[in-house]
Amino acid sequence: MKIIASVPAKAILFGEHFVVYGKRALATALNLRLSVEVSGRAGEGYHLIVEDIPLFGLDMELTSEYAQPFINYDEAARAIAYIRSAVQYMEREYGIDGGVELRVKSEIPLSAGLGSSAATTVATIAALKRYFGLWNGDLDELRRDAHKIEKAVQGNASPTDTAISTYGGYVLIEGGGVKRLRDLPEIELVTGTICTIPVGAGHESELRLKTRELVERVKTRKEAFSSVFEHIASAADELTGEAVVALRRHDLTRLGSLMNINHGLLDSIGVVPRRLSELVKLAQESGALGAKVTGAGALPDGTGTVIALPAAGHSDELRIAMGLTGAIVRDLRTNAMGLVVEEE
Ligand code: PMV
Repeated sequence: MKIIASVPAKAILFGEHFVVYGKRALATALNLRLSVEVSGRAGEGYHLIVEDIPLFGLDMELTSEYAQPFINYDEAARAIAYIRSAVQYMEREYGIDGGVELRVKSEIPLSAGLGSSAATTVATIAALKRYFGLWNGDLDELRRDAHKIEKAVQGNASPTDTAISTYGGYVLIEGGGVKRLRDLPEIELVTGTICTIPVGAGHESELRLKTRELVERVKTRKEAFSSVFEHIASAADELTGEAVVALRRHDLTRLGSLMNINHGLLDSIGVVPRRLSELVKLAQESGALGAKVTGAGALPDGTGTVIALPAAGHSDELRIAMGLTGAIVRDLRTNAMGLVVEEE
């Protein structure tokens, strides 16, 4: 018997960072997937095969001059930490006892703010639960299990990523709780990931701690400018609320403007280094109705992702313009399907 669990990538559309302080955030599932296959093996224990993960090899467009090598064993090791923790959690909480092979395949780049850690965790436990006859179809329980594992590996984590990996679609984080929004439409988004992974000694920890360090930096700024920060955070909360309304009405022009404003707020709290800032400006001037950083942002010279909302008929122009900066550019769709578990 072989079980295959697959889950989507995520993008935070509105409200990242401010969600840490109880404000609203809106996130969606993107149509990039990660799958974990579980099958039996002759021996005991767990044998893991990671077939391919972007950022851990070479990513190139054969039709352009651009090629980006990513060899980052440290990041790959980190992805494996989520699988190891998921296995240990399943042994402890559900009494599973090994004798399986796990095979991971992914289209989601690592450490780019696209939810690869949560995706790995959710898919691993879903596949193991089903393989060991423990799957009761309870997605809420699965999400809570995955969130515990994510927190154990990375310290703090909001419920956003594991919710999107599990449910897909759109989720609104409000007052720390997770609300699925089922009435929002699928839209096209162009993502651009800047990755300047310095291969070699000393830089790995910068990457590993990226989200945590950026969250810390924001906290320092919040403490230094507490009343100003409160206004900025309230504005971000308001933007999230307005974005839900604009999306529901399919008013993409308004949604794009809201993204631009949200980007300005992220810049004001110090999570937008030069390269991401340039990519956003370029997108805004090359056929996007709006563009912003998504997720934690980036440290100077670090990895980060920008989302851009193409104006009708301008996706090619937008993709080409963004690609010329050296970013890895993808044309994606929101509202992708959540967890799918299949048996072969
Ligand atoms: O870049 P990511 O996917 O790690 O997103 C972090 C989002 C934050 O709001 C900055 C932190 C959080 O836990 O919500």
